[in-house]
Amino acid sequence: MVTYPGADMARTIVITGGTRGIGLALARARLRRGEEVVALARDPGPGRRLVEEGDGRAHFIAADLSTVAGTRAAATELTDRHPVIDALVMGAHGLRPGRHVTAEGLELTFSLYYLSRHVLLHALAGPLTRAERAVTINLSGAGMKAGRIHWDDPQLTAGYSATKANLQAGRANDLLGVAFAERYPGIRTIAYNPGFVDTRPYTGMAQPWRALAEAAAAVVAARPETAAAALSSLVDEPPAEAFSARARRGTTNRPIDTTGPTYDPATARRLDAMTRDLLAGLDAVTR
Ligand SMILES: NC(=O)c1ccc[n+]([C@@H]2O[C@H](COP(=O)([O-])OP(=O)(O)OC[C@H]3O[C@@H](n4cnc5c(N)ncnc54)[C@H](OP(=O)(O)O)[C@@H]3O)[C@@H](O)[C@H]2O)c1
Repeated sequence: MVTYPGADMARTIVITGGTRGIGLALARARLRRGEEVVALARDPGPGRRLVEEGDGRAHFIAADLSTVAGTRAAATELTDRHPVIDALVMGAHGLRPGRHVTAEGLELTFSLYYLSRHVLLHALAGPLTRAERAVTINLSGAGMKAGRIHWDDPQLTAGYSATKANLQAGRANDLLGVAFAERYPGIRTIAYNPGFVDTRPYTGMAQPWRALAEAAAAVVAARPETAAAALSSLVDEPPAEAFSARARRGTTNRPIDTTGPTYDPATARRLDAMTRDLLAGLDAVTR
């Protein structure tokens, strides 16, 4: 059996968006358990603060995951530094009013919220496969029935709305897990809905939605630490199935039914093929 450097060390958990909100709370929770934590985000300030808290076990990789190039660069750095990854939690996300296009010509929400997760997940399959009991958790609105893949116009060039873009990416993230688990059944892949979590300030939201969200959060949302406790329990004890979906209930989780169209394997394969074509097209342009 090949022994990879680091295989005998503390477990390594990679958290995209691990510097704020739910990701930061999870990073702190896992550091308290003695694990190695690698947080990915853009802003080095919160990243530095996490590293200082981490007693040598917290690491930060500055990455802009809104582009394929930025995501691949981060994946290369990760695989170079961490040949074994025990858990990958994907939570990087950002809200911005209006339609934005990345330097690679893709709609921002599609690129950051869905495509970068596809790219990162597949790029880290090697280090995940080397772990004894690897788990990946994709944070989005798992299990929601609203929204769909706009097959003819996934970049939403016509009739854009932020809601449409976020719902499309959410459905795509659900399908991403199904297709990934088919390819890598040895890795536990979980689509996760954390419910409403108070991660104020909602700086990317336009008014009056920001004020409304902040007011609602103050009354009904869970604290990030509560969501992190629920997530942590999944990292420790993932469901037995290669693919599963869970929604937070307090500090625990409830199963989401994965037999319906939201998780249809044929649709998942179709999205996987479309995504690979899109990535190949991008590569052809940049070659
Ligand atoms: N909060 C909720 O109520 C809720 C509900 C359902 C689902 N979720 C999902 O849970 C996840 C975490 O949500 P949250 O509310 O905790 O988020 P958050 O507090 O807004 O934190 C987002 C994180 O993503 C990073 N990020 C944003 N844009 C990035 C980029 N281009 N490249 C790399 N990193 C980037 C941010 O750091 P930088 O800005 O420094 O890059 C930050 O660390 C998201 O996927 C969200 O969709 C949340």
